[in-house]
Amino acid sequence: MGDVPLGGIAVTVSTVALLLYFMTNDSSSRIVARLREWVLAASPGSRLPSTRALVAEYQASPVTVQKALRTLDAQGLIESRPGVGTFVRAVRTARPADYGWQTAALGTPPAHLRPLSAAMRSAPNDVIAFHSGYPDRELLPERLVRAALARASRGDAALFRPPAAGLPELQSWFAQELRASTPSGTNPPNPSDVIVLPGTQSGLSSVFRALVADGQPLLMESPSYWGAILAASQAGVRVVPVPSGPEGPDPEELARAFQESGARLFYAQPNYANPSGAQWSARRAEEVLEVVRQHGAFLVEDDWAHDFGITSDAEPLAAGDDSGHVVYLRSLTKSVSPAIRVGAVVARGPARDRILAAQGAEAMYVSGLLQAAALDVVTQPGWHTHLRGLRHQLQARRDLLATSLREHIPQAHLGLLPKGGLNLWARLPDGTDLDRLTRDCEAAGVLIAPGNEWFPAEPAGPFIRLNYAGPNPGAFPEGARLIGRALEQARA
Ligand SMILES: Cc1ncc(COP(=O)(O)O)c(C=O)c1O
Repeated sequence: MGDVPLGGIAVTVSTVALLLYFMTNDSSSRIVARLREWVLAASPGSRLPSTRALVAEYQASPVTVQKALRTLDAQGLIESRPGVGTFVRAVRTARPADYGWQTAALGTPPAHLRPLSAAMRSAPNDVIAFHSGYPDRELLPERLVRAALARASRGDAALFRPPAAGLPELQSWFAQELRASTPSGTNPPNPSDVIVLPGTQSGLSSVFRALVADGQPLLMESPSYWGAILAASQAGVRVVPVPSGPEGPDPEELARAFQESGARLFYAQPNYANPSGAQWSARRAEEVLEVVRQHGAFLVEDDWAHDFGITSDAEPLAAGDDSGHVVYLRSLTKSVSPAIRVGAVVARGPARDRILAAQGAEAMYVSGLLQAAALDVVTQPGWHTHLRGLRHQLQARRDLLATSLREHIPQAHLGLLPKGGLNLWARLPDGTDLDRLTRDCEAAGVLIAPGNEWFPAEPAGPFIRLNYAGPNPGAFPEGARLIGRALEQARA
């Protein structure tokens, strides 16, 4: 920084700048204070003196006067009308918002409309958060994601509209993933069977709207993902629950539900179900698929946790079906990044075309930038290294939380220790007041997800869902202790 002479003393330029800054600020506040008094005494609509007059009156520079006027404008006291002048703002009386007219326009809300789940709440930093369904940042391939986004921003994808069904290379990747586990003798899916989605939540809505007529039944495991229940109710379809346990649904009960309801679609999660963590055996998968085929129906297979195997791998049923009965959803949101929200639906025949039409009506196409970034991440050699590391981290976290629960909440029953996924699903003693427990836990600094939201009809008991992929696993034992204490109070 150079020196300039000031009254015979050498002063650095930065010191002068600083001095001018403070002087301007100081005289600007002085003008604001004086003008404020004037404005408050004047009647609304009065015209302020011109800038030139104010400069002369306050012996300040035009910059300082303009700054003072901007401050008064921001405080809502004056308004400037370009080319006309500056005026005292007309007083606006505050009045309460009245949207009463919407009551008549909207009518009574449909009984089936549910609000967004408590699992979607954002948590402050200092709480122990078991409620959310998302993995913590340390479980994401952050380096791959940042590099992929930078590369995508430099490529064509940043500027062009991609095809409605998705970038062809990404369609191929999703098809190839299924092809890898397709048995011999079965035709693997083609890239053109893949429709890229802006998240599979949006795919669920499109699939339900495209394949189930308004008011018609749809079978769903109970418990099941709250977002699927929500999507079904928004699509106006009637959810028929089918009980499902650690082994998946009982094929005979499923067959009965198809017969009694006349449904043509069954939504299920054969691998690491949200919330229960259940994974169907290969035999159960084959039996269920057989029931679906016999009833001329679709199985919507939601493979949301494909990348979260711990002691097993996810085996998509869709890989063994080339008859178009399985509509397969695969999400990359939680394994690549919640900010690169990309997924896909794989469907064959006219069902695929109907889903594409429904998806087009909803979203038209998925940002090419996000598609290119997602493809970049999953095709890097580092992706598989990341998934191997993730497996170990999830196992350590799952085991720590399960051990902490056993120690501090012996009354809680885990139906199974999941072989993959992100959650533990615990049944609490009958009679537990879940609302009170959730509130008391929150007051003690622990967020839990009450299980009722995962039941399409009446809950089968008091359950809670605890995510072991959230932040700060070191606090899991303390979190479990606090839940245990709140549980005793809720049952007292
Ligand atoms: C079972 C299941 N399916 C689908 C989704 C939707 O995921 P996304 O829209 O991010 O792909 C979720 C998200 O939590 C989920 O848990």
